[in-house]
Amino acid sequence: YPAYDVLRAHAPAFLAPDERWYVTTHALTNRLLRDPAVRLADKNDYDQFWPDWRQNRGVAPVVLSMLQTNPPDHTRVRRAAAATFTARRVAAMREVIAAQAEELIKVMPVSADFMSSFAYPLPIGVICALLGVPDSDRAWFRKHAADLTVVLEPISTIAEMQSADAAGRELEDYFIGLIAERQRHPQEDLTSALVASGDNLSGEEMLANLVLLLVAGFETTANLLGMGLHLLLDRPAEAERLRADPELAPAFVEEILRYDSPVQLTSRFTTEQLDLGDGISVPAGAGLTMLLGSANRDPARYDDPHRFDPDRPNIQPVSFGGGAHYCLGAPLARLEAQVALPLLLTMLPRLALTGEAERRDRLVLRGFSALPVTTG
Ligand code: HEM
Repeated sequence: YPAYDVLRAHAPAFLAPDERWYVTTHALTNRLLRDPAVRLADKNDYDQFWPDWRQNRGVAPVVLSMLQTNPPDHTRVRRAAAATFTARRVAAMREVIAAQAEELIKVMPVSADFMSSFAYPLPIGVICALLGVPDSDRAWFRKHAADLTVVLEPISTIAEMQSADAAGRELEDYFIGLIAERQRHPQEDLTSALVASGDNLSGEEMLANLVLLLVAGFETTANLLGMGLHLLLDRPAEAERLRADPELAPAFVEEILRYDSPVQLTSRFTTEQLDLGDGISVPAGAGLTMLLGSANRDPARYDDPHRFDPDRPNIQPVSFGGGAHYCLGAPLARLEAQVALPLLLTMLPRLALTGEAERRDRLVLRGFSALPVTTG
């Protein structure tokens, strides 16, 4: 965050030595995410700069999913997915989330790593329940989703790309089986709903977007839970306020998202020359990187931005992006944190940090690899 401060004080957008334009402010990030002259690198771009991308089955579903698709395909696919991922379906998950969180809390050892004992298992259990994946397959899903998430990062090792490929192949096979099963015997789950709206999606698109739903919400939500709990346990007075009044959870979760965005950046291209204000002009075809974590700490948008303050008015973090690609799972991620954090504080009143939390060594996804806690 101090580095973001230096960059933001320098300019709202600047050209870095990697020949990309980095955007640092809240206002410009919001504007560019909605600008029709700004697009994502899609499968046609991948064909140009990495002709073999389809061979890596970890990368392929993400590139073929809505996350890396531009209009008109994006509009069609997003509409079909949004019609199944409804507010009603998400609201109906509240009890499932609470039940799974209670189950995890009850078996948490006195001395625990919060990430592996709670933050990762909860989102994977919830997305499995939503997709209709049986409980017995949760651990398998968790391992494969973890191997696949590296494809969301701009830089990965060859070994990571190989394990993403292997995980992608197994997940695709799994979902092909699940789709076929739901075609024969529809259930009350999201997979069945997607299958039922199948006319709007090709088989390849359905598969890719099922894999995306698993990957997009897994580590991101785990990191929201991990960073959220860390912020609270580090500030006992705030934790006490939330414990006493769980109704404050929505405001706390928005401030956690603002203070420590689980997704730190998102990238785009310009399709025409753009005037960004302050005398800054970006040519057509330029790479843009929106620094979401910097936008969330912009003093032009938030007073005293480095202070954690759930009471601040009008918290609107860009942590879920903005515009057409605004996170489809945002209501689910919010609900998971709003349910889980107060529950942890009330069921485990002596929950405390022990030792140093370990940060993940990642550029895009911010969070902890280990968060040692004691339940008292
Ligand atoms: C897109 C963040 C949880 C599904 C996005 C984007 C961001 C984001 C920043 C936009 C990317 C871009 O514009 O390039 C997060 C964070 C989460 C979270 C911080 C948790 C705290 C979830 C969950 C799901 C999900 C739980 C689903 C189960 C998606 C999907 C998209 C997306 C499908 C693509 C939307 C589109 O391209 O139209 N997310 N996400 N996310 N997210 Fe999330």
